[in-house]
Amino acid sequence: MQPQVIWFFGLSGAGKTTLSDAVAKTLRQKGIAVKQLDGDDLRRGLNSNLGFSLEDRLENIRRSAEVAKLFMESGFVTLCSFITPTEETRRVMQQVLHNTPLTQVYVQASLDTCRRRDPKGFYLKVDRGEIKNFTGIDSLFEAPRHPDVTITTDHSSVDVCVHILLDAINPTQPCD
Ligand code: PPS
Ligand code: ADP
Ligand code: MG
Repeated sequence: MQPQVIWFFGLSGAGKTTLSDAVAKTLRQKGIAVKQLDGDDLRRGLNSNLGFSLEDRLENIRRSAEVAKLFMESGFVTLCSFITPTEETRRVMQQVLHNTPLTQVYVQASLDTCRRRDPKGFYLKVDRGEIKNFTGIDSLFEAPRHPDVTITTDHSSVDVCVHILLDAINPTQPCD
């Protein structure tokens, strides 16, 4: 598998980090060099001065895409998991990665599913009024018009989703 960027995007709780982890594990078992970049991680360091206004999200995505490009150029399959909520944030990401092999994966789940999962308790905090500007609630999420791949996670297992994804990004070498 050639160095490339796989960019997972979607609502909080849709399954971006889980799928990135599972894909990374599978690829590493095959001896492929993988780097993961995740919104939660980058926001603790490089992007710790940014919040969740649309302006800050745009800058968060721009910087993160630049980092992804560096890792890809160093030979890594680079798995990125960021909400990337708007067409504009996706356009910025695409501009930074314009000469880079890139697969954009829309990790789709209904807001109801994400709320039910609530893996970090954010939706509960939103309901209590403790968080503002939360994606899909009071901050914009625009469904993509033409993602390269859409993985719907509401009713499928992680394993099934990983299988679909690996077949989509590496069609000549179907996974077993
Ligand atoms: S973005 O929109 O692409 O810049 O966001 P990203 O860098 O991926 O960061 C999303 C993670 O930040 C946490 N978090 C929030 N998400 C959305 N809205 C608000 N207001 C918010 N506050 C904190 C949350 O853990 C997100 O991670 P995921 O994995 O999506 O749940
Ligand atoms: P995100 O990073 O998009 O916010 P997470 O990966 O942190 O989402 O959380 C997704 C949650 O949904 C996890 O608890 C995960 O176990 C669960 N889940 C159930 N089915 C799937 C699936 N098919 N793909 C990904 N996650 C799933
Ligand atoms: Mg995550």
